[in-house]
Formats: sequence, structure tokens, C-alpha cells
Amino acid sequence: RWVAVLAGGLSHERDVSLRSGRRLSAALRSVGMTVAEWDADSRLLSRIEQERPDAVVVALHGGEGENGAVQSVLDMYGIPYVGTDPRACRRAWDKPTAKAELARSGLTTPDWVVLPHATFRELGAQSVLDALVAKLGLPLMLKPDQGGSALGARVVRDAADLPSAMVGALSYGDTVLVEKYIEGTEVAIGVLDGPDGPEALPAVQIEATNGVYDYTARYTAGLTTYRTPAELSPETAAAAGDLAVAAHRLLGLRDVSRTDAIIDRDGTVHFLEVNVSPGLTETSLLPMAIEAAGRSLGDVFATLVERAIS
Ligand code: DAL
Ligand code: MG
Repeated sequence: RWVAVLAGGLSHERDVSLRSGRRLSAALRSVGMTVAEWDADSRLLSRIEQERPDAVVVALHGGEGENGAVQSVLDMYGIPYVGTDPRACRRAWDKPTAKAELARSGLTTPDWVVLPHATFRELGAQSVLDALVAKLGLPLMLKPDQGGSALGARVVRDAADLPSAMVGALSYGDTVLVEKYIEGTEVAIGVLDGPDGPEALPAVQIEATNGVYDYTARYTAGLTTYRTPAELSPETAAAAGDLAVAAHRLLGLRDVSRTDAIIDRDGTVHFLEVNVSPGLTETSLLPMAIEAAGRSLGDVFATLVERAIS
């Protein structure tokens, strides 16, 4: 029996994925699995067809790895894989879609507006920005509607910074998600499917040294302080876990996910987004949560591989 770990790919998060793939492969080998590390490049389809691994773990981030495209291919070839099916991947990957579905089900998520690039041409940039501030106030959080690792994301506290933040987000796609920025404690909550359904791992609290948890703060050791479990009251910790499990269930996610959230001063947990292929690098959040739960990355993913095959 052997498993192919897919990493790399062509998204902006290629380097992160290569790091996730390396760590995951080592973890799976440490528990006795036979692992091939595959870069998801142009040879991927022929490799899947010819080599037919017993299972695949998708350690790709961004684009095809998270929007369901790679999962569709695996379904077509009948190769079992760890993680969420294509339809649910698409729902989770598109941040406004995930927010709308969860808000409809009563979860709390910051108010938002979706701005396609064309809106600026049709209505004029300044009037769009004015309407945005009138509707949502300041500060605002801007991010590409589809993306990861905080690429193209920025907090805007001063309306004068809106145009450049907008250009930054639009450089990663043609639609921007603008959210009311909630001041509070940033947390990430991993969820694993177990025998009794999805279960939340201990929340990881994130404190970026310079206040902004951007790409550099995510992937440079020492630039961010992580507290696992997060320093929350038992009630708030339970609410954070419930939110993440609810997101996992309502969006139809499978095996593993990680919800990112902000907890405001009143203890309300606000859903920000959910990741179907959470980072597994040395500074990533899910592996910290797994360790805090007294488990190992290798054991957890080996169990998911066994489930996928069975
Ligand atoms: N998009 C990165 C890999 C994460 O969510 O961890
Ligand atoms: Mg993400």
C-alpha cells in the first residue's frame, strides 16, 4: 500500500504547499507508510493514470488544490483521497459563498460586500469606495474573494488607504471581499472527522509581533506568538469549537478543516473563513493543534488515509 502526497502546484501558495507536503510526507513515513511526493505539475494526470496510488493526500494550497479541481480528477480516476469532495471544496474556497451559507444558518460573520473589478468601471472608483465606507464603516478588511495565506489581504483603517488596498487584492483575482474589520483575538480551530463525527481541536491563538498576521508573519519562525490552547474562558473556547464544527458540517466538509475566526471583546466568535487544505508547515496552525490534543500529525493523517481507502 502506498500514498501519493500532492504538493506544489501553480498557485501563489506553491512554496507553502511544498513545505506542507514535505512535512506531511515525513510524518506519514514516521508511522510506517510508503509515501511518494508528487509535484502537481503538467505530468500529474498521466502519473495518476499510470501509477494509481492506493490513496492521495492533497497538500496543495490555493487554486486547483482547494477549489475542487484536483479532487474532481481523483474522483474521475476512482482514486481515494483524504479531504473534501469537489462540490464542498468549491463552496468553502469561495469566501463570500461560505460566509453567506453560514450566515443563513445563523453563524456570526463580519458584515461584507463583494466587489467585482467591473463595478469600479461602471460606477466610478471614488463613488464605490465612498459607498463602501458609508455601508461598513472603518476599519475594513480587504481580501481576494478566493485565496489564502493572507496574500493580497490588508486591514484599512484610513479611507485614504482604500485604493491601494483594493489594487493589492485585485492583483490576486478580479473580485474583492470587503469585510467590516472586527478588533479582537485571532484564533484558528482545526476540525477532524472522528468515529463520532467532526470534533474540534484546541483553538490556536495568534499574536503577530508587529500586529499583522501577513504572509511573512505566517511563515517566518519567531515572528508570531502562538498559544495552544488559546487563552479563552471555557465558554468562549466551547463557542469557538462549536462554530468550527458547525462550519465543517454545514459546508459538507470531510476529514479535516480549519476555521479562522476573531473573538471580539464581548466573547462573540466571528467566522472569517474555512480552509479545506490547512497549512502543514513548521509554523502552521493545524499541526500545533494536533500536538496540543496529544496526537501526532502522522497518526492523524494515517488514520484519514485508512478511512479513505476503506
Ligand atoms: N492557506 C494556508 C496554507 C492555510 O490556510 O494554512
Ligand atoms: Mg485561508
